[in-house]
Formats: sequence, structure tokens, C-alpha cells
Amino acid sequence: MRRLAAKAPRESSRVSGRPVLPLSKDPRPIGVFDSGLGGLTIVREIRRVLPDENIVYFGDMARLPYGTKSREQILSFSIQNTLFLIRRKVKAVVIACNSSSSAAYSFLKSHFNLPILDVIVPAAESAASATRKGRIGVIATQATIESRAYEKALSRRAPEADIFTASCPLFVPLVEEGWLETPVTREIAGIYLNPLKARGIDTLILGCTHYPMLRDIIAKVMGPGVKLVDSITPTVEK
Ligand code: DGL
Repeated sequence: MRRLAAKAPRESSRVSGRPVLPLSKDPRPIGVFDSGLGGLTIVREIRRVLPDENIVYFGDMARLPYGTKSREQILSFSIQNTLFLIRRKVKAVVIACNSSSSAAYSFLKSHFNLPILDVIVPAAESAASATRKGRIGVIATQATIESRAYEKALSRRAPEADIFTASCPLFVPLVEEGWLETPVTREIAGIYLNPLKARGIDTLILGCTHYPMLRDIIAKVMGPGVKLVDSITPTVEK
């Protein structure tokens, strides 16, 4: 547990340029936000790794989905969500949303005086160490794909890798509806993922915190030769 729980001196909340949380002697809760249910995949992992931490979770169901909205809108929602969590006296904010991380992480990090964690850098680091052939796929919302945030994060960590991206806009509503194992979900997954599979990728980043809930279906389409990487463990444990 380095990224969230590593011993960070109070005056320095950064290790290797990335924030880490103060140790849990600080009784204030960790704030986590997403556009909806997706961020709960991160909350579950925080609970597992840091069982003594209190968590305030904000799922912006009223304005879901974020991934089809403009960068400006997502930035504005992300600022509001952060302020909402700060009013609830959180000691750190986890942006448990790739769309918000891609649109707002730099802004939030430079404008708020508490540790802010994103989900893109940890997933990119994980993919860079997972790939053997240097062929990495990224699936995410339209907003995340258009931001090219994963290409930027990977260009530093796996500079030789070929990156193939695809947005999967129907995945988020399917997850929010709880349609995790339906024939229609399987069919849609095939339509989105088969072109990536045909590119011969060996690693696939699930670049949206909703997508791990479709992991079984995605794994079936991609087959055993493709390693699936998400933000959950690397965000909490790095
Ligand atoms: N779960 C979010 C993400 O990681 C947002 C999905 C959406 O609202 O479109 O991108």
C-alpha cells in the first residue's frame, strides 16, 4: 500500500511527483467521486486495503454520464464535486473517474491544497509493466479517448508501445442499468472489442471505472492472451 498509505511527511504530500495520502492517524475521511456507480470499484478496494479509513463517496447520478460531455463541462462538474467533498472535511480526494481525471486532474491538483489522486497514471503504469509485445489497447469513454490522456501517460512510460484506442459509450449505461451479463451486453462488447483484438494487442486498459464491472464479458471477447488492466488496484496500492 504505497500510494494511499505510504508514510508521507506532513509537509510533503508528494512522492515521485504524485500525491500520497497522509497516514490514517488523520481521522478525516477520504473523499471519492465519480459520475455514478463506477467509482465504487475504487471504494471497495480502499475498504479492502485501508479498512480503518472513513470514505465519503459522491456519485453524480444526476449528471451522468460524463463521458459524452465536453471537457469544459466535465472540468466544471469535477471542481464542484471536489468542493462538495472538501465541505465534508475530507483529507484527500480520489478522482475515481477517468473522464474527470483526463479533464480535470491537472487543474484540481494545482488549485486545491490537499492530495488529489487520479486513476489514469496508475493504470498507464500498470499497463506499461504488463505489456510484453508493446501493443496496448485502451477502452474508455469518448471524453477520455478524445483527451488522449492515456497516450500521453503511456508515451512516458512505454515510449516504444503501439497504442490502439476505442470509445465504448454504451458500456456506462449498461453498467448503470445492471446489465452486466445480458446477451445484448455481450453483443455490444463484441462490436466494440473485436477490432482491438484484431490489432494483436496483448494488454487492454479498462480506462473507465465502470468497465471492471464488465470484466468477465470483456475477458471472454479478448481471450486469454490479453491482459486486462484497470485503475482499481494500482490507484489504491501504488
Ligand atoms: N466512470 C467514469 C469514467 O471512469 C465516467 C463514466 C461516464 O460518466 O461516462 O470515465
